Amino acid sequence: MAYDDRDLSALRDVCDPKAVVPEDQHAPFLEEWRGRWPGQTPLILAPSSTAELSQIMSAAYERDIAIVPQGGNTGLVGGGVARGEVIITTKRLRAVRNISAEGFTMTLEAGVTLAEAQGHAADVDRLFPLSIGAEGTANIGGVLSTNAGGVHVLRYGNARDLVLGLEAVLPDGRIWNGLNALRKNNTGYDLKHLFMGGEGTLGIITAAVLKLYPRPRDHLTAFLAVPSADAAVKLLSMAQARSGGQLGSFELMGGPMLDLVLEKFPELSHPVDQQTPYYVLAEFASGQQGALRAMAEGILEAAFEEGLVVDGTIAADGKQSDALWELRHRATEAMKKDTSPCVKCDISVPIAAIPDFLQQADDVVHGMEPGARIIAFGHMGDGNIHYDILGPVNGDHDTFRGRMAEFEHRVHDVTVALDGSISAEHGIGQLKRDELETRKDPVELDLMRTIKRSLDPKRLMNPGKLLNL
Ligand code: FAD
Ligand code: MLT
Ligand code: ZN
Repeated sequence: MAYDDRDLSALRDVCDPKAVVPEDQHAPFLEEWRGRWPGQTPLILAPSSTAELSQIMSAAYERDIAIVPQGGNTGLVGGGVARGEVIITTKRLRAVRNISAEGFTMTLEAGVTLAEAQGHAADVDRLFPLSIGAEGTANIGGVLSTNAGGVHVLRYGNARDLVLGLEAVLPDGRIWNGLNALRKNNTGYDLKHLFMGGEGTLGIITAAVLKLYPRPRDHLTAFLAVPSADAAVKLLSMAQARSGGQLGSFELMGGPMLDLVLEKFPELSHPVDQQTPYYVLAEFASGQQGALRAMAEGILEAAFEEGLVVDGTIAADGKQSDALWELRHRATEAMKKDTSPCVKCDISVPIAAIPDFLQQADDVVHGMEPGARIIAFGHMGDGNIHYDILGPVNGDHDTFRGRMAEFEHRVHDVTVALDGSISAEHGIGQLKRDELETRKDPVELDLMRTIKRSLDPKRLMNPGKLLNL
């Protein structure tokens, strides 16, 4: 895809010169996090207002110029990678338009990072609960357009559950103002949900009204060694039933994942004596000070008695809690530090099916390559397992790389047979676009294409991502 320089100049001409990212600053926008897909672009624009973005989009629409929206560029499925299209980064859409502590809402522009969003909520003694490992860089537009999940879905839902209203610029440049703070609004199709999970294929999200929650006053983090995945499922059920909704996170970590993190980050240490096939990081949160410890200790005692937990530790303070979370959050970086290529499967199955999934997928993977290193971890409380596969230590990387699609396909076979999804939270992007074709209901795919064609008739928005057209 190559565009005439006159057409590109027309895009430059409608914006402030500050919105044009100089070529010597293009590199970070062309490198995606995993280093898997190189990017290429003739032009990167960074508008500072919705009106400016609207003018750019309308000029691009007139000239048939395709657009790739980019937020923090932390996506893991190659959704923000340009292959000759113009990149529009939302990094200068930074305004905090409104914060209402009384109404429990805040209205932020797309380029505010997720960590900043959490901070704005905390400043008014409220909680914005969405939390992911990349929150320092990922931004509101990115997390909404991928419908990100993370570690608090169990209690507060995915990104789309945290949005009341949305503003977006459509492919032809029109601004859709759906920025309302209503908790009830039954006036027909709820269009905001098309843009959330739309991965930039229908338009660019510019601002959102986000839900806020009361800030918990007390937290308790426990790191637990469990004898099996089955025990972890039973523990989850027990903790949910007995904690009265105070279980905030329930993360599973496979033994090989923990070992890899400890190998790549030697400054971290194993928190318990026993080595088990799986570990759980559970976090409880309460609106009242001091009520959690007795409740959590009661649950853990019962779990020990039933043999669901064989070792464990409870963080004594925030510092210890952070150290335990560090072990969990470092998984992605640990895999990146490994020299072997990595197959990343982000699947979900009904929670009760997790042990079957893990057993069957392990059998399939080790049947294909006995030395493959299975790095399984994730948001067990949501039925979401990150089932990642590293090639054998000292193995032939090229041979392994050549089989990555087959590994992924076979793991997805197991997932689908258990009524699961091939993408729990990372989205489709370019990584899973072809797999989606074979896994999704044909009528649903047809409806998705109909929506795409109707909102983006010229197919200019993030082409080649999410859907084959
Ligand atoms: P980008 O990567 O910039 O873009 C992602 C997609 O959204 C692209 O298709 C892009 O075109 C589109 N897009 C971006 N901005 C807009 C916009 N304003 N309007 C329309 N489309 C847009 N994900 C989880 O769900 N849970 C996790 O726990 C999690 N942990 C992670 C940990 C690490 C270390 C890393 C590197 C990634 C993790 N991710 C996780 C994946 C990633 O952070 C999320 O997908 C995040 O939502 C992407 O946000 P971003 O701003 O970086 O978006
Ligand atoms: C996580 O939960 O840590 C992320 O989704 C990142 C990953 O899957 O690697
Ligand atoms: Zn995750």
